[in-house]
Amino acid sequence: MTAPNHRPELITDRLLLRQWKDSDYEPFAAMNADPVVMEHFPALSTRAESDAVIERAEALFAERGFGLWAVEVKETGQFIGFTGLAVPRFEAHFLPAVEIGWRLAKDAWGNGYATEAARASLAYAFGPAGLEELVSFTATTNKPSQRVMERIGMTHAEDFDHPRLPAGHRLQRHVLYRISRAQWESSQ
Ligand SMILES: CC(C)(COP(=O)(O)OP(=O)(O)OC[C@H]1O[C@@H](n2cnc3c(N)ncnc32)[C@H](O)[C@@H]1OP(=O)(O)O)[C@@H](O)C(=O)NCCC(=O)NCCS
Repeated sequence: MTAPNHRPELITDRLLLRQWKDSDYEPFAAMNADPVVMEHFPALSTRAESDAVIERAEALFAERGFGLWAVEVKETGQFIGFTGLAVPRFEAHFLPAVEIGWRLAKDAWGNGYATEAARASLAYAFGPAGLEELVSFTATTNKPSQRVMERIGMTHAEDFDHPRLPAGHRLQRHVLYRISRAQWESSQ
C-alpha cells in the first residue's frame, strides 16, 4: 500500500503523469469550460469548480498516495489534462470504490494518450497502491470514454441511473465498468 503524502510521477513512452503545477490551472479551466470536452457532463465548470478538481486530486495524494495526475506530453512539455484515480463522493450500491478516469483537451484526442495514461494508472493502482479493484463510469452517450475502458481491459458490469442527475436528464443513464487485480494481472 502507498503511504499518505506519497506523490508519485509515472512515465510512459510519450507522457509524463505528474503532480499539478500552478501553470496548469488556467488551461485546465479552459478545457472544463469547453462545450466539446464537456459534452457528456451536465454543465460546464466555473473556474472555481475547475480549481476544486485539482485541489481534490492533491488532497487524495496527501491522504491515500494516489490521485488524478496532470498529464504532460514529454516531447513538447504541453499540459493536456488528467488521468488517474479518484474516490467518487456520491452514494451508489457499487461505492465506496476507487475510480479510474480521464479528461483531455480536445486538441489531444485521437492520439491514444488517454489509453496510454490509463494503462500506467492501472499499473500503479494494482502495483504500488495495492488496490484490488477499480471502477469507471460515464454517461451511456460517451462512447470515446467507453472505448478507453475497453482498451484497458475493463468489463461492462451494468448500467445505472446517476443519483446526482434528475429523472429524465439526457445524461442520467450511465455505464459501469470494472476491472479486478486478477483480471489485470492475467492481461499482463
Ligand atoms: C474520453 C477521452 C479522453 C478519449 O479520448 P480519445 O482520444 O478518444 O482516447 P485515446 O487518447 O485513448 O485515443 C484513442 C484514439 O486515438 C487513435 N490513435 C491515433 N494514434 C494512436 C496511437 N499512436 N496509439 C493509440 N491510439 C491512437 C485511436 O485509433 C483511437 O481512436 P478511436 O477511439 O476513434 O478508435 C476524450 O474523449 C475526452 O477527454 N473526453 C472528454 C472528457 C470525458 O468525457 N472524460 C470521461 C468522462 S467519464
